[in-house]
Amino acid sequence: MAYLSRNPAPIPTPVRIGLIGSGWMGAFHAESIARRVPDAVLAAIADPNLESAEALAKSLGTAKVTASADDILADPEIDAVIIASPARFHAALISQAAAAGKHVFCEKPAGQGLDELDAALTAVEAAGVHFQIGFNRRYAADFQAAKKDLAAGIAGQPQLLRSLTRDPGNGSIPNAARVPAWTIFLETLIHDFDTLNWFNEGAEPVGVYAVADALVEPALRDQGFLDTAVVTVRYSNGAIAVAEANFSALYGYDVRGEVFGSKGMVQAGRSTETAARRYTAEGLAADTPRLNVELFRDAYTDELADFTAVVRARRDGTPPPSADFTLTPGAADARRALAVALACIESVKQGGPVAVPAATKAGV
Ligand SMILES: NC(=O)c1ccc[n+]([C@@H]2O[C@H](COP(=O)([O-])OP(=O)(O)OC[C@H]3O[C@@H](n4cnc5c(N)ncnc54)[C@H](O)[C@@H]3O)[C@@H](O)[C@H]2O)c1
Repeated sequence: MAYLSRNPAPIPTPVRIGLIGSGWMGAFHAESIARRVPDAVLAAIADPNLESAEALAKSLGTAKVTASADDILADPEIDAVIIASPARFHAALISQAAAAGKHVFCEKPAGQGLDELDAALTAVEAAGVHFQIGFNRRYAADFQAAKKDLAAGIAGQPQLLRSLTRDPGNGSIPNAARVPAWTIFLETLIHDFDTLNWFNEGAEPVGVYAVADALVEPALRDQGFLDTAVVTVRYSNGAIAVAEANFSALYGYDVRGEVFGSKGMVQAGRSTETAARRYTAEGLAADTPRLNVELFRDAYTDELADFTAVVRARRDGTPPPSADFTLTPGAADARRALAVALACIESVKQGGPVAVPAATKAGV
């Protein structure tokens, strides 16, 4: 008996990924690629704050560092990019990456307006590259279990939907004055809008009514800062959804989703960090998740594993991974959620309900 096969299966070449933006989210994605996604390697990091890129590269043992995303896009050895720069750069970076033939994973939002997003998605389509947006909640085990139940019809015809985000805080918001305008809709609730859209698959969001205020930092209300919001979303199948957000939950990071329908209800959302419970004379206690990278550690890893698997299949001409329900969030999902977020901004400005513009581009 031979110890070694004469024709061993070739070891697949890992997907070589360039990171654009090495801040909070970019650093976690870099760590996921370097340590938790076996089929990918972190090939380079670009950040105009070179010190940040260098520190990250050093901590992960990755060599190439540059101040400009252009260097990553011009590198023929890089298959794909992760865009984790501030949101105002996303649409232009997507267009440039697609034109350079790189597959794109982009943090949300993929753009800050529908025109710039459509231009970016047109570039993606023209280049034929894979595009995925960072709607990581889809990869959380409980959200996936809920989605599977919904796809199997467990809740029946959706009537009420709910999604909420309460960011962890201590009763005040650090650097609140520097938070870009409308962040609560464009960068926070956009996750909830995707959850609602995904849970109510086949229906389109047609109208919203958003109410928002600065309740955590009321001193910033006059500058237009918003830290608390409730949105009702009306869907084309008649379902009515509520999304809500607050930037300072003292008990930790709280994310939940729910669908109530003609046959029952499906819920997702993990409220405790572990299953451990403490029973004492004072009652019952449990630890709660504090950070997004705690609650969604596995989801952040799995979204990049999915991205890597699709990119590798495309590059190597092998069959793409499959799931028994819609999973990978792509161009149409990025646009649909952004359309809702932008309608919310309009609703707050007008102080009343507004329509959500329909998708116009083919497939988007
Ligand atoms: N999916 C999630 O749960 C989640 C959580 C947090 C942040 N985000 C998203 O990630 C993105 C980044 O957020 P963050 O909290 O990491 O911000 P951050 O400010 O911590 O990091 C942004 C980094 O991008 C760099 N940068 C600025 N301009 C750049 C450019 N043109 N090219 C490359 N890099 C550039 C900055 O120097 C900084 O290091 C945002 O879109 C945000 O909404 C997503």
